[in-house]
Amino acid sequence: MSVVTPSALQHLALEVSDTERSIEFYRQFLGMKVTERHKAGEVAGIPVDLTFMRLGRRHHDLVIMHNPGKTYTPRPKNPLDDAEGIPAFHHYAYECPDRESFLGVLERAKELGLEIVRGPVVHSPWDPRGDGSWGENESFYVLDPDNHRVEIFCDLATIDTDGTYINAAGERIEGAKAEEI
Ligand SMILES: [Fe+2]
Repeated sequence: MSVVTPSALQHLALEVSDTERSIEFYRQFLGMKVTERHKAGEVAGIPVDLTFMRLGRRHHDLVIMHNPGKTYTPRPKNPLDDAEGIPAFHHYAYECPDRESFLGVLERAKELGLEIVRGPVVHSPWDPRGDGSWGENESFYVLDPDNHRVEIFCDLATIDTDGTYINAAGERIEGAKAEEI
């Protein structure tokens, strides 16, 4: 079956308990900028505060959403540990264009005193440095002020036309193959 596909998964709208705190976090950690911010009710049908933040030139990569009428309870550090509840998202990720910039963001996390909850780790069963997991990317993870798990990564594998993985060095990893081509 052939279907028309979008080009990319792009922005995320994240619910936060304190807009100012989250803006400062994403500014300081990732150098994001505020494009515009709006109060609940400014536009009919949008009963929440929205702040649009960007990494580069696109209008927004992250939308910070806050409901001023809601009493927030703390978000668990790892929703996978919950015995019951709604299907929460586990983490989301920012891509660095190369390993040098990845290490730069890691350094920034350390300067800010952020807790690195995982990594840096190479997600690979093939790479000698790998932890046995999947994607070939090198990653580390921190928690934002609401315990949303944020991954920073570089070097994600690409998939060749025959399904074989290609690593960041451009080498085919023979034996590593996507389930669907
Ligand atoms: Fe991930």
